[in-house]
Amino acid sequence: MPNSVLENTATVANLLAAYEGESNAHAKYVGFAAKADAEGWHGAASLFRAAARAEEIHAKNHARVLKQLGAEAQCEIHAAEVKSTLENLKAALAGELYEIETMYPASIAEATESDLPIAKRSFAWAMEAEKTHAQLYAEAIELVAKSVKESWAGSACDFYVCAACGYTTRTAKEQERCPVCNLAFDKFEVIR
Ligand SMILES: [Fe+2]
Ligand SMILES: [Fe+2]
Repeated sequence: MPNSVLENTATVANLLAAYEGESNAHAKYVGFAAKADAEGWHGAASLFRAAARAEEIHAKNHARVLKQLGAEAQCEIHAAEVKSTLENLKAALAGELYEIETMYPASIAEATESDLPIAKRSFAWAMEAEKTHAQLYAEAIELVAKSVKESWAGSACDFYVCAACGYTTRTAKEQERCPVCNLAFDKFEVIR
């Protein structure tokens, strides 16, 4: 049984912050996807939609752990600033890097210290999935910056999102199971 919420205020605060970050990232990426479609970057739009779905999965995972710890997930969704697709991709990459380099490592360290493996796993899964987003955003930035419309960024394409951890890939069946959480590949969601 997990310890009560009162004994775990730091982990709960980190989970709430992560829940808010993931929920707002989801909303932001939905807006970025619409803008990318409007600018003819349909593959970048597909990527934003796939990442948006992954962030939703992360938020749901964090919410479940909050509930298990006796707390309730809630947050405000702020209006996202939508600029050009190139600027949006750069903003998205910066957000992912903050989570990968700063937010999640600190939260994982704290959850480890507090001996809360359920929270640690939720943070770790999200962090590993964000690495796939950062990689894909970096690739898209290259293509959009050079205006390479004859590329995956220019045409709507399928992305595969792990339904459990949000791991995101552009390559169908690159492996049998999710390398992060071990879910079978046939349970991945296809997002276009
Ligand atoms: Fe992400
Ligand atoms: Fe996974």
